[in-house]
Amino acid sequence: MIEFTINGRAVKVDVEPDTPLLWVVRDEAGLTGTKFGCGIGMCGACTVHVGGRATRSCITPVQDVAGAEITTIEGLDAEGNHPVQQAWRHLRVPQCGYCQSGQIMQAAAFLQDIPNPTDDDIDAVMTGNLCRCMTYNRIREAVREAAA
Ligand code: FES
Repeated sequence: MIEFTINGRAVKVDVEPDTPLLWVVRDEAGLTGTKFGCGIGMCGACTVHVGGRATRSCITPVQDVAGAEITTIEGLDAEGNHPVQQAWRHLRVPQCGYCQSGQIMQAAAFLQDIPNPTDDDIDAVMTGNLCRCMTYNRIREAVREAAA
């Protein structure tokens, strides 16, 4: 049994220790806002926070998060009003939307570390989160707005 918390809720799972955290979040906890994109740590669609740090859940074995606090897009803010979410809505960032929870989780963790980023800072961090609809300009603008 592996124990940790997701969005403040204690969770115990009985799965293979090398099961990717992504599948535990989606299939065991039923939190489907976290998406599967590439499965090899290359796209960022599966980004969650582990102890406040942006983490690619598709390549994180669940045994590595024993005792940790996990936050998913559903738990970022109880009302969905985290400053990053507000900026995302205000600027209508998403197109198809598939990658956006990962984008938001990446941006939220990044702004904790660097509250007043330059555009270069934003690009350096967000470049690893891929968007096939090419919403990158709006993502940059929204991160700027959330930081303001
Ligand atoms: Fe995890 Fe692409 S699904 S990085």
